[in-house]
Amino acid sequence: MHNVDIDLVEMSLDVIKYAIGRISDADPKLGFPKKAEELKELVGETITPAGIGGEKAFALFKDVLVKASISIDHPRHLAFVPASPTRAAVLFDLVTSATSVHGAFWLEGAGCIFAENQAMGWLVSLTGMPDGAFGVFTSGGTAANLSAMVAAREFWRDRDKSRQHERGIIITSSGAHSSIKAMAKVIDVDVVFVETDDRLEGTQVIDAIDRLSPADRARTFAVIATGGTTNAGIIDDLDGIAKACRANDLWFHVDAAYGGAALAAPSVRHLFQGIEMADSVTIDPHKWLFSPYDCGAVIYRDPQLAKKAHAQEGSYLDIFSDEATTGFNPSDYQIQLTRRVRGLPLWFSLAMHGTDRYTKAIERGIELAQIAGRLVSETDYTELVREPSLSCVLFRRIGWTPEDYRSWTYKNHKSGFALVAPTKRRDANGSETVSRFCFINPDTTEKDIKDILATMA
Ligand SMILES: Cc1ncc(COP(=O)(O)O)c(C=O)c1O
Repeated sequence: MHNVDIDLVEMSLDVIKYAIGRISDADPKLGFPKKAEELKELVGETITPAGIGGEKAFALFKDVLVKASISIDHPRHLAFVPASPTRAAVLFDLVTSATSVHGAFWLEGAGCIFAENQAMGWLVSLTGMPDGAFGVFTSGGTAANLSAMVAAREFWRDRDKSRQHERGIIITSSGAHSSIKAMAKVIDVDVVFVETDDRLEGTQVIDAIDRLSPADRARTFAVIATGGTTNAGIIDDLDGIAKACRANDLWFHVDAAYGGAALAAPSVRHLFQGIEMADSVTIDPHKWLFSPYDCGAVIYRDPQLAKKAHAQEGSYLDIFSDEATTGFNPSDYQIQLTRRVRGLPLWFSLAMHGTDRYTKAIERGIELAQIAGRLVSETDYTELVREPSLSCVLFRRIGWTPEDYRSWTYKNHKSGFALVAPTKRRDANGSETVSRFCFINPDTTEKDIKDILATMA
């Protein structure tokens, strides 16, 4: 298994050939899921005592398994938050794996962590947070939000030991991502949701605080604002919320997992004013910063607070604190110990292309949303539900029921043409099913959008 022999050479050639083919494919197959029973029928049992051989396993992967998986970078995949990693980043993901570096401690990964940190330095600079602010790459936005809230909660408890066993409260908006609720479950805190159809205002946060009972007010330790909601690309009133947090001694976290990339886009940068006052920020390079999965990031205003919350101790880890080996230990700032140096693909692509090309590619997503907004308005059977925000467009097919949206989605997806999923938009009467575009891929064209709208006729 670990031999260097002719089988290894053959397998390497197959793998690299496949990787080059896939990376250079400008129009990858969209892919459609199959039921597990169907896959079992097609693939059979692949794990056997003697092994089925690399050639057969790879053939099953190429002929069956990958076709039952969706290509997230397909130019007409505009559902959820798609992705569009640069070819350089994907190739460097192969290099990152081949290099076999443990990314938790400087002792083991100094050179690679140094590179990750240069990319991180750029991310931090986009936020405008003060000197000393820094962050770490995580497995995604959920892990970043979780890591930030653990740091916030520990900071709150450390300041008053009577809170050691107190269950905390977080305030956020109904537009916050589902991972906030999931994260709150993990750390066993309550969440107060401020109901809002649009951006969460600082005044609404103040009202929410004022409405709390004294006991609940004492349990409240953080507010989470969203810098680009997943559903509609809405950026909360970060400036107002930051001030409300300062006035009430609350940790201010900005979940910009999706929208944070737009900090690099001059056309919308002003919408994020106030993010520089955050105590922590989530930005996912695997969303709109063209990194392959999985790569999120959490940035702290005071990384020492994160270190206090996250640094692990154990006699087997003592060596990592020795003077000769000290440096930045990524494991000290988030929930994971052993980690791949997942920021390396982003670093390589940034270093190769330069940040200007990132700005251009992100601006293209915003431009595509504007183009789509115009096309939706010009088409007589569609209309905008709200103005496009960041790279999200919510729109209505006049006269359609929720079932119409669903069957349209499946029809386009099954035929391999496009994946555009319905979502819900809250209104005064409850909620309405509508359609949604989220543009990440700069290769998506105006024609793609026109063709998709034409299938709604
Ligand atoms: C605003 C926001 N926060 C958090 C997340 C969760 O990120 P991940 O899926 O990387 O854990 C998402 C995912 O879409 C998101 O849009």
